[in-house]
Amino acid sequence: MSVILVESLSKRFSRKGQWTEALRNINLELDSGTFVSLIGPSGCGKSTLLRIIGGLETADAGKVSIGGMTPLEAQASKVFGFVPQAPALFPWRTIIENMQLPQEVNRKGGAAYESNREDETELLRAVGLGDFTNAYPKELSGGMQQRVGIARAFASGAPILLMDEPFSALDEITREKISHQLMSIWEKHQKTVVFVTHNIREAVFLSDKVVVMSSRPGRITEIVDINLPHPRTKMEENDPIFHDYVHQIRALLQERWD
Ligand SMILES: Nc1ncnc2c1ncn2[C@@H]1O[C@H](COP(=O)(O)OP(=O)(O)OP(=O)(O)O)[C@@H](O)[C@H]1O
Ligand SMILES: [Mg+2]
Repeated sequence: MSVILVESLSKRFSRKGQWTEALRNINLELDSGTFVSLIGPSGCGKSTLLRIIGGLETADAGKVSIGGMTPLEAQASKVFGFVPQAPALFPWRTIIENMQLPQEVNRKGGAAYESNREDETELLRAVGLGDFTNAYPKELSGGMQQRVGIARAFASGAPILLMDEPFSALDEITREKISHQLMSIWEKHQKTVVFVTHNIREAVFLSDKVVVMSSRPGRITEIVDINLPHPRTKMEENDPIFHDYVHQIRALLQERWD
């Protein structure tokens, strides 16, 4: 069943009297429980599309439906969990207390999705931070803090997670490790994830679908279904099908540069 439906969506920004067409005629239908990546050149509108889906930005034309709700209604019902580039952790709260924050907020708001709550400690263990539950954010490296952000999003009870380049500040090896941890959590919890990345291998490894976008005005060039089996974490490094997908997406991205 489609949980995110985007129809004929367009968005322009005006700055100092100049109009920028950020998104043109975007159509997208995403099923519940799928992992979807948005990939495309810088400035093609990935963050804008993610923000419109999450109700943080409004479109000029077109329609977005989140399980029959508008993005703002969905936001008010605590449907979304956001994972930005740097996690917003409160320095005076321990890691486990930071993990519990969304549930605390939801309880006060009487959220509809509270019953999906997961066990915070188990999720922290899944991202390799089982020994840091009582540490404070300043005692953790940037990569470790980012893992808290991911675990917290899965613990929040929100059924749709919106992630905007959550690994962009990390080195290559840490990034690979964390994407494996994200995959193993996702394989267990199967939330709907919309994930923005510039990294083709990461997109293929994580996704059921990769949405390839072209440069300004942002349009969808192609939606590639990734038919790789799960668990992906057990996948061989040099699986030829994996490499075929990587080449296919690289070619689609290059086409637009030529
Ligand atoms: N609030 C804003 N005001 C004016 N222009 C904006 C605003 N937000 C985005 N834009 C413009 O819209 C276009 C798309 O921006 P967006 O941030 O969505 O791109 P992106 O694909 O996420 O890029 P990157 O990969 O660099 O993060 C860009 O040209 C950007 O300058
Ligand atoms: Mg962006």
